[in-house]
Amino acid sequence: MTRLSQRLPALPTYPVADIPVIKRRLLAQGVDVIDVSAGDADLAPPAVAVEALARAARDPAMSRYGFQLGLPAFREAAAAYLQRRFGVTFDPFAELHPLLGSKEGLAHLALAVLDPGDVAIVPVPGYAVYHGGTVLADAQVHLVPLTPRTGFLLELEELPRDVVQRARLVYLNYPNNPTAAVADRDYLARTVAFCRRHDIVLAYDNPYCEITFDGYVAPSIFEIPGAKETAIEFHSLSKSFCMTGWRLGWAAGRAELIGALGRVKNYVDTGPFLAVQAAGAAVLAQAETLVRPYVAEFRARRDAMVPALRGRGFELETPRATMYCWVPLPEGVASAAFQRRAMDETGVVTLPGSGFGAGAEGFIRIALTVGAARLEEAAERLGRVLTAV
Ligand SMILES: Cc1ncc(COP(=O)(O)O)c(C=O)c1O
Repeated sequence: MTRLSQRLPALPTYPVADIPVIKRRLLAQGVDVIDVSAGDADLAPPAVAVEALARAARDPAMSRYGFQLGLPAFREAAAAYLQRRFGVTFDPFAELHPLLGSKEGLAHLALAVLDPGDVAIVPVPGYAVYHGGTVLADAQVHLVPLTPRTGFLLELEELPRDVVQRARLVYLNYPNNPTAAVADRDYLARTVAFCRRHDIVLAYDNPYCEITFDGYVAPSIFEIPGAKETAIEFHSLSKSFCMTGWRLGWAAGRAELIGALGRVKNYVDTGPFLAVQAAGAAVLAQAETLVRPYVAEFRARRDAMVPALRGRGFELETPRATMYCWVPLPEGVASAAFQRRAMDETGVVTLPGSGFGAGAEGFIRIALTVGAARLEEAAERLGRVLTAV
């Protein structure tokens, strides 16, 4: 038998890894599947993206290696968007880097920042890549539960002193997947101050900054004075523009951090397809306009789903952002067992809190990735499981 790396057993099971296979089995059995598991909406990408991609794909120059520089127009469009949207200024070449989706950058950042023995502070529940990226960098993960007590905010001041001393990196994500929590500026300011005081890199994962409701506008971490000394922010076209499969995002931060990330990436990838970057540039030039119909649709879905779930006995908060409902289960009901029953008995595919780590037990995540009528149907079926558990 081949001896494989000890990193493999240290990697937690990836939350959505098995779902495509299970879903295929259910569909083959003729089950009417409603998949609200991955954050991967059923909506079409913007027409400008498709047109720009088609145009660019016909240009042979776009079929060449992008290398880490990538398409200058994409860097410029991303920097211009950050400036317009958040009032923050980044040099598109020294302080910004194209990514094959933000996932890739979040994982590779760990390789650029951490050494064995260093600690990364990772929220639970949280995007699995924070944990996995840290493990792949042979560093240690310190898991911090996000709970209703703190409004699902990760309070760095509450960490043990020895953890803080060894911490080199913290991953934060607001608007948050999966809890849908948002962070106010006071929280962000004290978090930036803490990271500066303790020399901790703040990886601010911001792919949901455009998917906000009821007048809430999500900030960039760089709107907080002093953030540039400590933070690197990750953006994505996946969620705001329903372009998950295109694999395009970017990181912004001070030149030292961006340079470190690019240095790692030189050895693992050669950047996103240039034609995809051309499409990304076209989208970002009109980002604020293009995102509006998507946000309206996610809001309509939320406004259908939250009352539908409440009507079936679930007690959940109304999310102010993201495409997720983080739904508490009754005391003592195991989320994995609930998710399994919902899937096997009713065809509704959700994600169990336990899949995000032990600290997230007691919840299921429902993604607003199908239309309102299907969501209401899902709520009805989930309600049947709830009365049966
Ligand atoms: C919090 C968070 N960060 C990052 C990502 C990665 O997005 P992408 O790699 O598609 O840009 C996701 C996707 O689900 C996410 O939920």
